[in-house]
Amino acid sequence: MEKIEWSDVQGLLLSGYPQLPFSAYLAWRFRPGRRDAARRWLADLAERLMRADGVQGEVRIAGATSTAPTNIRALKAASGSDLRAINLALTASGLRKFDLDEGWLSEFSLEFLEGMAPKPTAATQVPRRSNLLGDAGDSSPELWDWGGWTEDDGVDGMLLLYAADEQALQALVDAEIKAMDAASEVATSAGRDNGGPIILKGRLYDDRKEHFGFTDGISQPTIEGSPMAQRSKEKLKRRSAATKENDDGKVLTAKEQRISLVKPGEFVLGYVNERRERIPDRSAKGHANGRDLLRNGTYMVFRQLEQDVDAFEDFVSLLAKRLHGEADPVTEEQVAARLVGRHKNGEPLVPRAENSTKKTERNDFLYSHEDGSGLACPIGAHIRRANPRDAIGPDPDTALRLSKMHRIIRRGRPYGARRDPKEGKSSGNGSRRGIAFIALNADIAGQFEMIQHSWLNNAHFGGLYAGTDPIGHVAQAGDEFAVQQRPANLHIERPRPFVTVRGGAYFFLPGINAVRALAD
Ligand code: HEM
Repeated sequence: MEKIEWSDVQGLLLSGYPQLPFSAYLAWRFRPGRRDAARRWLADLAERLMRADGVQGEVRIAGATSTAPTNIRALKAASGSDLRAINLALTASGLRKFDLDEGWLSEFSLEFLEGMAPKPTAATQVPRRSNLLGDAGDSSPELWDWGGWTEDDGVDGMLLLYAADEQALQALVDAEIKAMDAASEVATSAGRDNGGPIILKGRLYDDRKEHFGFTDGISQPTIEGSPMAQRSKEKLKRRSAATKENDDGKVLTAKEQRISLVKPGEFVLGYVNERRERIPDRSAKGHANGRDLLRNGTYMVFRQLEQDVDAFEDFVSLLAKRLHGEADPVTEEQVAARLVGRHKNGEPLVPRAENSTKKTERNDFLYSHEDGSGLACPIGAHIRRANPRDAIGPDPDTALRLSKMHRIIRRGRPYGARRDPKEGKSSGNGSRRGIAFIALNADIAGQFEMIQHSWLNNAHFGGLYAGTDPIGHVAQAGDEFAVQQRPANLHIERPRPFVTVRGGAYFFLPGINAVRALAD
């Protein structure tokens, strides 16, 4: 098996940092004419970034007597409020400021170089990419708070900061703004908070629920050859040969392995992927001047997705009345689960197989034989679209193999205050909450964009008549949600999306050596 240079890979790829529930996503831009300061800043930052693995693993915290781990193995073993994690991502505009020659830049993918929201031109009023992502109407980049069409300066990069509590997070944000000050400034919003800093605060709650009330972050791909899987090998030999551990230390059954184990090249640049290819393909292009900025990096998709919890719950009540004759907490939970494909506690709607493990948040299910017609988990449900497993393809085995070419690692977290159920509906006070959606993948077009465009936004997904993702941001005339049932399916019109895109950008999450090379 190919050996992955984990100590050169940023930690976010292998961990969502559950021990650091408070996070801040800070967008920044370089100050003009400060290239030397920028290099000094990056050289210093490179040594503080959280890595996926490593031997040294600790740095001194500015102004404190203690040290903080800089690899996730050390982070897991440590405790205390000093713990934190820093990761760094750059946009194409950020990379361009290093005066890399065009040969280097062309190694990055076209969609990354073009960005998530290229500005319209006289020829293309709605640019192809916005069309493809469904970013129109209320979700049009014209209206975004950041990353959209109204910005002049844009965003050059993002710091992803994680801490154990709110106070520690604020201290980390302040320290990092100070550390970057000579080189960069916090980017400012062009939209509703015109001129305000773009610092989105994420929060992982103990129950791991997002704002619509569902446990999130359950189904993730597991990278073949990841350190946890390697380390567990010995343990596995002693256990049943049919089990293996994933990166959270959980045990994967043989069936879960079939579903979730994915080749490293789908997520880390420079390694073999599910197509048995490498991105970038060095054999075709040759390798220019010795520096390899892409190796051990990955692409990061960041989308600020605002959630309208009231509108979602109104729709759920309507659906409960139509399906069950009345809306009460029990029927509402049942229909909400149909929209997502899992109950709010994480239990999937596809029935448990006889020999299945007994976990609520189980992930050992397929669709083709277990629920081929969608009677348990509707065909249009969010998780069935986002990862159709063995359902879309000429036969189940091929479908499962193909679906592994379109997986993403999700590292997003909710932002904004949770709605207090005792308060009832928010009184139009403009409360802003949603998901700071983060997807990591080696091929934005083949992974994130493919899922968004061909599955979530596709009104005819899996043979449906007219329904996009029920919790997606796309609005289409005649949009509906179809519940497969006997004797006849039920079609319910979805009045409008419950999610709106408020900002976003495509980033590159470089390997540590690439950050050092940029600073050189
Ligand atoms: C506000 C927007 C969104 C909400 C509230 C949301 C919520 C959820 C929930 C509750 C789950 C089930 C728990 C789990 O398996 O982890 C899930 C799964 C998933 N979501 Fe989303 N999601 C949103 C947007 C997106 C977008 C934009 C994408 C991709 C473009 C996406 C891709 C996925 C994937 C790949 C899964 C795992 C499916 C599986 O492997 O079974 N989600 N999401």
